[in-house]
Amino acid sequence: MAPNFKQELTACFGKPVAENPTQAMIEAAYRHHGLAWRYLTIEVDPAGLGDAVRGARAMRFAGFNCTIPHKVAVIEHLDGLGESAALMGAVNCVVRRGNQLIGENTDGKGFVESLRPLTDPAGKKVILFGAGGAARAIGVEMALAGAERFTVVNRGEQRGRELTSLLNEKTSARAEHVPWRGDYRVPADADIVINATSIGLFPDVDARLALDVETLRPGLVVADVIPNPPRTRLVREAEWRGCKVIDGLGMLVNQGVLGIKYWTGIDPDPGVMRRALVQVFGH
Ligand SMILES: NC(=O)c1ccc[n+]([C@@H]2O[C@H](COP(=O)([O-])OP(=O)(O)OC[C@H]3O[C@@H](n4cnc5c(N)ncnc54)[C@H](OP(=O)(O)O)[C@@H]3O)[C@@H](O)[C@H]2O)c1
Repeated sequence: MAPNFKQELTACFGKPVAENPTQAMIEAAYRHHGLAWRYLTIEVDPAGLGDAVRGARAMRFAGFNCTIPHKVAVIEHLDGLGESAALMGAVNCVVRRGNQLIGENTDGKGFVESLRPLTDPAGKKVILFGAGGAARAIGVEMALAGAERFTVVNRGEQRGRELTSLLNEKTSARAEHVPWRGDYRVPADADIVINATSIGLFPDVDARLALDVETLRPGLVVADVIPNPPRTRLVREAEWRGCKVIDGLGMLVNQGVLGIKYWTGIDPDPGVMRRALVQVFGH
């Protein structure tokens, strides 16, 4: 076989981006599956985003992730959007299809994938803490997967209301916003509790979600989006009380699995990717 020194390119565009561990996870999968592909971590200034996307087109990148602050701004430089990215108005994964660059959102899809082994979102009642980018992605994707009712518990009332309006107006789910006062008590008919705030993220690892943990009953599904450290205070409390628990690495790995599938067409091994992240975080 003739030697081939040309590698297929994928990347993450963000700023700041140096501490983003996605490269370790994605390249571990490329190596494991014998793909001569690269995933580059590239700092892109907001003023340079258009040029960066034109560069990716010219160099025939298979696709790229977008992170802070580009998830919304990238849209005007693309040729189209997938369904959930259009609903959310945010893109975290760009995919080259033919000569077109299409924006997808794999954050919420990754979350739903990590949930499925424990429960089917269809018909479920969800308590969602947070109303930022992660909560919007999770809310929209859970609603598209058939979740029936959302209670959005958010500190800032305006963002909380914006998310409930989005869910009520653009999906078939019903949503209400509950102002977050004191320790929230999970209602007895809730099926799934999700922390989609940044509470518990390194280095503030002992930060506590204002939640009455006595209301976490055995069998309730409790998910946390915090990837570092994965064993947050909420994860530990919920496990101790007999809940079915999903940590933030599940979502992070599964959005990477979907990105690789979109770009390369293969189904990567999530175990390899999770181990690469665990090694990076040192837990
Ligand atoms: N595992 C994964 O794959 C994955 C993917 C994406 C994001 N994440 C994680 O998700 C978290 C949120 O990211 P994001 O993009 O949604 O951020 P964001 O848009 O800045 O939203 C942050 C959310 O957290 C709430 N919040 C922050 N500090 C709080 C506090 N002390 N008390 C109460 N609420 C607080 C905010 O409430 P207000 O509206 O009141 O400010 C808001 O709802 C981050 O930790 C990120 O690491 C994980």
